[in-house]
Amino acid sequence: MTINLKTPEEIEKMRTVGALAGAQLEMIEAHIQPGISTGELDRICHEFTVNEQDAIPAPLNYRGFPKSICTSVNHVVCHGIPSDDKILKNGDVINIDVTLLKDGYHGDTSKTFIVGKPNVLAERLVRICQESLYLGISAVKPGGHLGDIGHVIQSHAEKNRFSVVREYCGHGIGTIFHDEPQVLHYGRAGTGVELKPGMTFTIEPMINAGRAAVKLLPDDWTVVTKDHKLTAQWEHTILVTESGYEILTHRSDDTIARCG
Ligand code: MF3
Ligand code: CO
Ligand code: CO
Repeated sequence: MTINLKTPEEIEKMRTVGALAGAQLEMIEAHIQPGISTGELDRICHEFTVNEQDAIPAPLNYRGFPKSICTSVNHVVCHGIPSDDKILKNGDVINIDVTLLKDGYHGDTSKTFIVGKPNVLAERLVRICQESLYLGISAVKPGGHLGDIGHVIQSHAEKNRFSVVREYCGHGIGTIFHDEPQVLHYGRAGTGVELKPGMTFTIEPMINAGRAAVKLLPDDWTVVTKDHKLTAQWEHTILVTESGYEILTHRSDDTIARCG
């Protein structure tokens, strides 16, 4: 496996596109209301990406994906396809996953929102998932290992009686959308690839309220929990620095520092 280390010039481009991806999630928040369709959210993001951010929505036509963002509602784990028929209602849980391409580099980030008034389980699942992402990020430092990240995420989820999806993982990112290495959200500390300054990858835990098992729907994209219970996901694009990490897709609502 060859994991290429980014040069300072490449890192600057990753910062630029990462900040745009984060800003897009900030932009879309106000639109997430009961009554709006996921198709409309997709159109708003597409227009914003192309017209305001002068960037390209990387999911559009990626391996045949038909839309510009992924919208995954309730028991949909990931890769939900936006649709004018899918209208959000009070209490829904929706992950919005945006990936932008600008100047040859990708920024990939997602956040789970609760529509209208949250119920207790949804709020707890979404919070534990966000915390597990932050714990994974906090484990990033040169000399550490990818297994350190998976270990803290799995421990936090399972301690709270939730489960970690195994079939999908984080990934190296740069000029290539999904590059090496694979970043598993479970595992043992001290195992796997050693982290080095200049590596860029995503961490994107999918945490289920019920069992870990998932299945792929016949559209070949939409991934759902087998037991149809609730699921959540949060994602950031991370740079390994000389002293720890930098969150390239950091937002103003993040409750973890951009660098650590
Ligand atoms: N953004 C997703 C990820 O985190 C990938 C979406 S691929 C798509 O890796 F084709 F479904 F958009
Ligand atoms: Co990703
Ligand atoms: Co993503």
